[in-house]
Amino acid sequence: MCGVELEKMVFLRHTFLPCLRISSVVLFFCSVYCAFLYLPSHQDQSGLVLTDLGRMLGDLNAFDATFGRRQVVFFVETSNSGKVFERHVCSLEAAASLNPNVTVLLVMTQQNCQIQRENNTALVRLLDEYPNIRLASVETKQLLKNTILEEIWTTKFLHTVAPVQHLSDLVRLALLWHFGGVYMDLDVMTVRNLSLVLREANFLAADDVDHLNSCVMGFERRHPLLQTLLEVVRAEYDPKSYSTVPTAINSAVVAYFNLSIEEAIKLRKWQRVRFYNSNGFSPFKYANYMNLFYPTTIEWVERISRSSYGVHFWGSHTNHIVFKENSTAPFAQLARKFCPKTYPSLYT
Ligand SMILES: *[C@@H]1O[C@H](CO)[C@@H](O)[C@H](O)[C@H]1NC(C)=O
Ligand SMILES: *[C@@H]1O[C@H](CO)[C@@H](O)[C@H](O)[C@H]1NC(C)=O
Ligand SMILES: *[C@@H]1O[C@H](CO)[C@@H](O)[C@H](O)[C@H]1NC(C)=O
Ligand SMILES: *[C@@H]1O[C@H](CO)[C@@H](O)[C@H](O)[C@H]1NC(C)=O
Ligand SMILES: *[C@@H]1O[C@H](CO)[C@@H](O)[C@H](O)[C@H]1NC(C)=O
Repeated sequence: MCGVELEKMVFLRHTFLPCLRISSVVLFFCSVYCAFLYLPSHQDQSGLVLTDLGRMLGDLNAFDATFGRRQVVFFVETSNSGKVFERHVCSLEAAASLNPNVTVLLVMTQQNCQIQRENNTALVRLLDEYPNIRLASVETKQLLKNTILEEIWTTKFLHTVAPVQHLSDLVRLALLWHFGGVYMDLDVMTVRNLSLVLREANFLAADDVDHLNSCVMGFERRHPLLQTLLEVVRAEYDPKSYSTVPTAINSAVVAYFNLSIEEAIKLRKWQRVRFYNSNGFSPFKYANYMNLFYPTTIEWVERISRSSYGVHFWGSHTNHIVFKENSTAPFAQLARKFCPKTYPSLYT
């Protein structure tokens, strides 16, 4: 609720004591308070204010008015830690700097109106540099309400073995359902401007010759394929399986097009849906993710940034791997080049 981390927020404690009581009335007031606080955007001293997406769910004009009627790339943070991990900040920087005309919108599922500046110094630095990076929060229950995914949230999700991952899987689909746009995982570093990708309103991206990943995708709101994805996810969601949503997405595509995934990827485009092969966003396949952290040549890295739009770095497997300032590992080379402002907080 609106109070999970509020005790740490001194100014809130003094100015908005009722927030600490957990009730729907409080939620309402917190939303109003968020909206009120939002006005000067990131300038508040105590915390970074998150725009409340909840009030825009049925109101696309409000969404456009707030985020500038531009194309939006959504990123989603579901850890509820109140902190955006530095490598994820790098992904925001890369996307924002290569695509200055795109709104890079980080959506957090935590219920606080704010996150603390002192815990997010790398992010704070970026917000001052890139006006196209925006922060929002949304209450999951509200986001999923009256969508095909609502049923999962109230039933099987209660038994999930991977709450952070599964919540992220559901939230990305619901955001595209409500607003349309592009979704990217926080462990995808953009390495080329996305102008060609953004021209394809509806797309999915592979991480192998016969498998689509859900780390990057784009959809027009309420697109019929997106509806099928949601329906198949609802039918097949298995709270005990880590990759249940990506698996369901693959079977949804097979059902929708009556094509194998391998055929769809080979076709590149079918019924105005684009399929990127693994070069697009996963030049490092799952089996090879360690190569991201082994030394390599500059030429090799340059080749990647010519043939790919983004690099999925399989964060849940690689986030713990450290590297030195002048490392020649692909991840380090790419980060030095595409998130130079964040880079100093990435190496050990
Ligand atoms: C951004 O948009 C402006 C105005 O629409 C345009 O002049 C400019 O070329 C665009 N820049 C990029 C990098 O797309
Ligand atoms: C956030 O900052 C507070 C101090 O303001 C600290 O106690 C807490 O551990 C920090 N949380 C994280 C996740 O770094
Ligand atoms: C984006 O990259 C393409 C090449 O992929 C290039 O032709 C185009 O000019 C670039 N656009 C911008 C706005 O930088
Ligand atoms: C699906 O495609 C196969 C051929 O690959 C065809 O035999 C079958 O009739 C198709 N099914 C539908 C429902 O169109
Ligand atoms: C890394 O390279 C920079 C620039 O060449 C140099 O200033 C710095 O001392 C190097 N850092 C380490 C740890 O070697």
